[in-house]
Amino acid sequence: MTEKYHEMDPMSDVISDDYRMLQMIGRFGITLGFGNQTVGATCRAAGVDVTTFLTVVNYVKDAAHAHIGEMVDQINLPCLIRYLKNSHTYFVDFRLPNIRRKLLEAIDCSSSNQIGLLILRFYDEYAAEVARHMEYENSFVHPFVENLLNGKVRVETFDMVVRQHEDNHASLEKSIAELKSIIIKYYPSDNAAQLMGEVLMDIYMTEEDLLTHCHMEDTLFAECVRRLECKVRRAGGSDINSVEEEEEEKDTTLANDLSEREKDIVVQVAKGLSNKEIADALFISVNTVMTHRRNISRKLQIHSPAALAIYALVNGLVNLDEIVPLSNSPR
Ligand SMILES: [Fe+2]
Ligand SMILES: [Fe+2]
Repeated sequence: MTEKYHEMDPMSDVISDDYRMLQMIGRFGITLGFGNQTVGATCRAAGVDVTTFLTVVNYVKDAAHAHIGEMVDQINLPCLIRYLKNSHTYFVDFRLPNIRRKLLEAIDCSSSNQIGLLILRFYDEYAAEVARHMEYENSFVHPFVENLLNGKVRVETFDMVVRQHEDNHASLEKSIAELKSIIIKYYPSDNAAQLMGEVLMDIYMTEEDLLTHCHMEDTLFAECVRRLECKVRRAGGSDINSVEEEEEEKDTTLANDLSEREKDIVVQVAKGLSNKEIADALFISVNTVMTHRRNISRKLQIHSPAALAIYALVNGLVNLDEIVPLSNSPR
């Protein structure tokens, strides 16, 4: 692949050539105002690895023709992880809430507009799915790679950790395609048609952006990690436990008091939510909920949801009217 952008190119030319690069530089933590500085000088001033930056922007420019094998050698993994984490923050905290605000403006939210309300609900479910996916990567995938960088391997391989995603890339892609299709096919034309058109354009751009992000994780990032993992395992990297065992071990160092996160879980259990519903509400994986629940049971020596509800009530974590009636057998 012939690289499009080079170290001595002025950074402003890169952005003028392709406006998507604006988002890329932001996710590397580079801010505007670089004058006539080159890509290399701008990256160095911002503490960004120049070759990783160039590899990523060249990949985004022409992912279809990217030669992953050659690119992998150029990547500084900590720098790429920072970029991926910042991308997650961008999608979850900025992009998706922004689209929701516009969607609210475009949709007549009166109770008579059932289709509008259903579209909003569909959107919220989609945004929650993306948030869960990215939270899983931040909490499990990236720490896995950071351990590898420190010469530590787990029982699970990288591919196993990635496959444990409940909301995988294929399902994210399907959901956003469905969302577009529902709006296009079924949203009744009304006074806010132009606003809805704007929302659709935003959704199209977000879809493209997310596809590139996921594709980069499946190819460039995954290949870098697999190579590193291979090296560390061959060098006899020290074994550490599975993700969950490590969570549990870390937790035993704490006092028997519940952490704030554990209290959140107790509240949700007391309200009668299932593990899956708790995971959705707190944007964590079901595995993490189960780990917390095991730790809570061990600390409190309380195992049944009904007894946890009583504990929550006595300790002022919930009010009586929030607790699911004991006759509704808790899940
Ligand atoms: Fe991601
Ligand atoms: Fe991902």
